[in-house]
Amino acid sequence: GLPDRVTIYEVGPRDGLQNEKALVDTGVKAEFVRRLLAAGLPIVEATSFVHPRWVPQLADAADLMELLGPAGQDCPVLVPNERGLDRALELGARHIAIFGSATETFAQKNLNRSLDEQFAMFEPTVRRARDAGLDVRAYVSMCFGDPWAGAVPVDQVVGVGKRLFDLGASQLSLGDTIGVGTAGHVTALVGGFTEAGMSIDQLAMHFHDTYGQALANTLSALRAGITTYDASAGGLGGCPYAKSATGNLATEDLVWMLTGLGIEHGVDLQQVVDTSVWMAGQLGRPSPSAVVRALAGS
Ligand code: HMG
Ligand code: MG
Repeated sequence: GLPDRVTIYEVGPRDGLQNEKALVDTGVKAEFVRRLLAAGLPIVEATSFVHPRWVPQLADAADLMELLGPAGQDCPVLVPNERGLDRALELGARHIAIFGSATETFAQKNLNRSLDEQFAMFEPTVRRARDAGLDVRAYVSMCFGDPWAGAVPVDQVVGVGKRLFDLGASQLSLGDTIGVGTAGHVTALVGGFTEAGMSIDQLAMHFHDTYGQALANTLSALRAGITTYDASAGGLGGCPYAKSATGNLATEDLVWMLTGLGIEHGVDLQQVVDTSVWMAGQLGRPSPSAVVRALAGS
C-alpha cells in the first residue's frame, strides 16, 4: 500500500530562485516564503549561505532572514562549509542542509572540490552545527545521471549518500538534479539504500521534471514507502552549475496527485496556485506547471 500521509518539503525560494536570471527583490522573496507557509507547507527552504559570487541570486540571504524574523529561523537554509555555517548561525538558523555530489565532475563544478574533498568540507560543518543544536539535512546530487559522467551506478550513490548521512544528518534527500531518472531506477536506488541499512524514514526524494518523469518517479517512491518529497511552487528551479537542469517537480502537481490518491499533505492547493501565479507575474513568465495553468484564476 501507499503511505497515509506525506511531508512536502518546499524548495521554491531556494532551488527555484537560485536559477532565475533576473534578481528578485528581497521583499518579494520574503512575501513568497510567507505565502507558502500560509498555504500550509510545513517546511519551506528559504535560501543558501553559499559564496555570493557563485550564486548571486541568493546573495541577499542575510537580509532575507532578517526580514522573515522568527519564522525564517525555522526555515532550512543551504550551507556548504564552515563560513556558510557561521553566517547562518549569526541569524539564528535552526535547520541547515549540506549538499554533496555523487559524482566527481559535479563535486568539482558545484563545490570546487573533488568527490573525496567534499567530505572534509562537510565534516566540521556538520559537527559544529550539531554541537550548536541544529538539525542537518544532507542532499546528494546526480543520483540518477550526470550531464558529464552519464549514468551513475546505484552503488556509487549509496556509498556517497551513506557517508554524507553518517556525518550526522537526520535526513538524506536523493536528488535527480537533471531529471533523467525513471520509475524503475527509483525502485532500484531506494532498494540500494535500504539494503545498505538505511531506513525508509531517513530518505527524501528530490525530483526535477526535465524529462516529465517527476510524478511517475514520485509514485514509484510512494510504493517504496518514502514519505518526504521536495517540490517547488510553480515548478521553478534548476541548478546553475548543472548543465540542462530545469525546474523541480511542481508543488501543485504533487499536491494534485496526492489528493487524488487520498494521501494527506495538509496543503491548500489553491493558495499555492495563487502564490505561483503572483510569482510568475514578478518573474515575467508563466509557470511551467500544468496544474497551475489549469487552476489559475479559479
Ligand atoms: P571556494 O572558492 O573553493 O571557497 O568555493 P574557499 O573555501 O576556497 O574560499 C574562498 C573565499 O570564499 C574565501 O574568502 C571565503 O571566505 C569565501 P577570502 O578569504 O578569499 O576573502 N567563502 C564564502 N563566503 C560566503 N559564504 C560562504 C563562503 N565560503 C567561502 N559560504 C564553495 C567553495 C562551496 C563556497 C562554492 O563552491 C560555493 O559557494 N558553491 C555553491 C554552489 C551552489 O550553491 N549550487 C547550488 C545548490 S546545490 C543544488 O541546487 C542541488 C540540490 O537542489 C539537489 C539536487 O537537485 O540535486 C540541493
Ligand atoms: Mg535541486
